[in-house]
Amino acid sequence: MASPVTTSAGTAAVERLPSSTPDRRLLMIYVHVPFCHARCTFCDWVDGIPNRDLLRRPEDSVRQNYLRALCDEIRVRGTRLTGTGHVPHVVYWGGGTASSLSEAEAEQIMTALRETFDLSTVTETTIECSPDTVDADRLAFFRELGFDRVSSGVQSFDDHRLRRLGRRHTAAQAERIVRDAREAGFDQVSIDIMSGFPDQDLEEVHATVDQALRLPVTHLSLYSFRPTAGTAMRRRMGGQERRDYLRRQKILFTAARRRIEDGGLAEYASGYFGQVSPFAAMYFQLRADTAGFGSGAVSLVDQRFLSHRKGLLHRYVQDPLSFDIAVPAGQDRVLVSFLQAGLAMFDGVLRAEWELATGTQLDEVLERPSIAPLAGLLRARGLVEDARGIRLPRDRAGLTLIELAFEMAMSQPEQP
Ligand SMILES: C[S@@+](CC[C@H](N)C(=O)[O-])C[C@H]1O[C@@H](n2cnc3c(N)ncnc32)[C@H](O)[C@@H]1O
Ligand code: SF4
Repeated sequence: MASPVTTSAGTAAVERLPSSTPDRRLLMIYVHVPFCHARCTFCDWVDGIPNRDLLRRPEDSVRQNYLRALCDEIRVRGTRLTGTGHVPHVVYWGGGTASSLSEAEAEQIMTALRETFDLSTVTETTIECSPDTVDADRLAFFRELGFDRVSSGVQSFDDHRLRRLGRRHTAAQAERIVRDAREAGFDQVSIDIMSGFPDQDLEEVHATVDQALRLPVTHLSLYSFRPTAGTAMRRRMGGQERRDYLRRQKILFTAARRRIEDGGLAEYASGYFGQVSPFAAMYFQLRADTAGFGSGAVSLVDQRFLSHRKGLLHRYVQDPLSFDIAVPAGQDRVLVSFLQAGLAMFDGVLRAEWELATGTQLDEVLERPSIAPLAGLLRARGLVEDARGIRLPRDRAGLTLIELAFEMAMSQPEQP
């Protein structure tokens, strides 16, 4: 029976990750593909994108225009980034569903990247997939095109659950993508699974984890369901008692993470297990600048936070070089999101990296009036603050972040 590739404790691997220095700015290149074959009932990555845009197919002229705009953005902004000495370190295509691109579309984007950047310094190139969009041939195509890591959403290995989540694949197809990816020559294969659906019990979570661990995955991401307004699952939730639901979410997440670690994949950040993903870890710790291309992508470049808001496909197509948000990275709301991301790492937020990426001092930020209440909550949870940075104790980080995300999601009014 195949099993996950067991890993040594992730902390050492995280410590070995490189960071930008004032003289050498590392760059993470993110390409956003805002299309899927269906809208899943739990997914908050695509909220705000109307169905008519989310489900556009390659033959649709709006999608063709999107591809052109995306490649224009890569070429123009990419040339500037190369001019300012940014050195590409990792490449990640996500979404939406990056693997829903046709072969011609994927070639078009890869050509734009290759013609703009020197990719010889890139250490990892990931494509995000969903099991219904790929087969062995397409995985071989993506490997040939230059990807060396696959990250696939799976969520559950229970066919009944998959149907209710609106997924277009079965558990057997989800297993197949892992095996096919390994056979196609991908040494790094990751899957996403989820816990904490309103009606889920411990037995169901255990069964999904056990099935995941039987597969030759090198990385597992475990996400606790965020009941974000706008998702069909949140709309259906009714008057479930909030505290009780959060408590059950924490129990399910804790049980799942324990089982995954016992199965041989070490947890290096809250909900991230196995072979450290440089893209995730470096993004969380602000070890590099990020150039996000496409509608819905965010960038952190030269201490500025830039974003093309998701859902505004038509605006993006008209002018892919103007941003809906372009603010200094030192703005309170931006920093709160960076703090939450950094605290997902057991190694925490790193002082030097933070200062270089945001142009702010960590201690000053924690005292700001709009951030001090969060700092107070984190300190009550045992926040460690020292010369290296700030971090939550390993056993508190995941549950604290689940609570923050849950409260934030629940504080948003349900959309009609
Ligand atoms: C951008 S999605 C891409 C995955 C890919 N399109 C697929 O469906 O297979 C990345 C992951 O975010 C997680 N996710 C999406 N919505 C979520 C939510 N409301 N709460 C927690 N995790 C969520 C899912 O595990 C999903 O696989
Ligand atoms: S989970 Fe993946 S396939 Fe489903 S709606 Fe979200 S991005 Fe699209």
